[in-house]
Amino acid sequence: MAEIWKGGPVAEAVYQEIRTRLSALDFVPYLKVIRLGEDPASVSYVRLKAKKARELGFRSEVEVYPEALPEEVLLERIRILNEEKELDGLLVQLPLPSHIRAERVLEAIHPLKDVDGFHPVNVGRLWSGGEGLFPCTPLGIIRLLKHYKVDLKGKEVVILGRSNIVGKPLAGLLLREDATVTVAHSKTARLPEVTRRAEILIAAVGRPHFVRPEMVQEGAVVVDVGVTRVEDRLLGDVHPKVAEVASALTPVPGGVGPMTVAMLMANTLKAALLRRNGAPR
Ligand code: GUN
Repeated sequence: MAEIWKGGPVAEAVYQEIRTRLSALDFVPYLKVIRLGEDPASVSYVRLKAKKARELGFRSEVEVYPEALPEEVLLERIRILNEEKELDGLLVQLPLPSHIRAERVLEAIHPLKDVDGFHPVNVGRLWSGGEGLFPCTPLGIIRLLKHYKVDLKGKEVVILGRSNIVGKPLAGLLLREDATVTVAHSKTARLPEVTRRAEILIAAVGRPHFVRPEMVQEGAVVVDVGVTRVEDRLLGDVHPKVAEVASALTPVPGGVGPMTVAMLMANTLKAALLRRNGAPR
């Protein structure tokens, strides 16, 4: 049976490092989270992010706007916040209402304040090997694997899913760790053959229990990034029976989830240091 690799203890180690580093600073890094509308999942995620930031000793504020806020008004607000000297990190919670082009919003945030790592400049830096701010969930997955002593160098990794938030940036980060990376997706032919090649399989498709035991190599490490609410339960992308084949498996909830918030906190500290200490432009 697979070992269950929880994210909580790993997130706690990240928080401990952040507390230590914050206490040595002569300023308080400042995170702002913007939310539009009242989508229950967004309300809960944003509350969690702001609360954790304050708990660690950051300054943290949430700005809430009505769902009908015009795109231009949001963009203007972002331009003002880009110029605000005290502000280190700015995040606009996704998904956005359909009248707002997410791309324009993400491109409006100053790259040095982009704690989500979604700005094209940061995406470019991720792929070109430079320093920058990179997406939190992929960073959290790498941190979790390292905590559990997985050596990524030369490993055969298959990522299921090609989203801009998880699959694509994770592929870039894994290449930086010298892994051999395949990104599989809904159009991939002979998918079980592809996923069975993986020594490390990462599922980020958002389809409950999509990964079944016959898709997994004996002894593989399986990371479950999916979280889908089904009635009152949260289900991952990985079928529970995969635990009979894998050597290790991250749970849902309680696996990758806590790591995303932890890496957002780490990114906020990094953003503060990059911007205030003179960073690559
Ligand atoms: N919605 C779901 N995941 C994310 C994320 O990582 N960042 C933002 N801003 N919104 C999200």
